[in-house]
Amino acid sequence: MRKIKEEELESLLLKYHAALKTLETELSILLQDFEFQNKYNPVEHIKSRIKSYDSVVKKLTKKGYKVTIKNIEEQIHDMVGIRIICAFLPDIYKVVQLLEHSEHIKIYNRKDYITHPKNTGYSSYHLQVKVPVHLMKGISFVNAEIQIRTLAMDFWASLEHKIRYKFLGEVPQNIQENIYKCALDINELDRKMLFLNHEVQKLKQSLH
Ligand code: GTP
Ligand code: MG
Repeated sequence: MRKIKEEELESLLLKYHAALKTLETELSILLQDFEFQNKYNPVEHIKSRIKSYDSVVKKLTKKGYKVTIKNIEEQIHDMVGIRIICAFLPDIYKVVQLLEHSEHIKIYNRKDYITHPKNTGYSSYHLQVKVPVHLMKGISFVNAEIQIRTLAMDFWASLEHKIRYKFLGEVPQNIQENIYKCALDINELDRKMLFLNHEVQKLKQSLH
């Protein structure tokens, strides 16, 4: 197997870092504008990362591909990843709408694991996007994954990921079932908090 040259990898990483910066800047501008127009910020916090080389090797090997620059670019769609955490469920769809309005970021695929949660219980809204990166040789369109979820969904996903990692992917049935039940509890909590928020808003309006 031909090993990846260090220089090629560095150049690829440069591109990914540039894509992440572009995505973060675009998002921050759109959110500032949204907040200005609506006097309300739908986002609690944002996390971002470039996938580590170890994870890339693991993912390509699992998919049955050799570790080459071409395969990294073509087969890994989440080299650049952003996670947007919102307080309430409807905020997720506000953020999606916001991104749909972007002139630069182009959505090419979406997965609504909120309407259709995964078998594990995982729920989140995923967007796969292309981010334009302006380099000396011209524009390059880099794939990135945006995961949008509530604080509660993020809490569940983080802990479930930790548990799955401990069992190297093979989680015993009874634990899996319990994690799934926790996901249902989390969804219920999201609904209750949303209801409470509506009640608070109504109260506030009646006081004005
Ligand atoms: P990969 O998982 O990236 O190979 O692609 P896919 O086609 O399965 O995409 P999917 O949208 O299902 O998942 C992409 C990402 O979502 C993962 O890398 C995780 O960050 C997250 N994710 C998906 N399923 C789960 C899950 O069951 N638990 C947790 N904690 N995270 C998940
Ligand atoms: Mg997956």
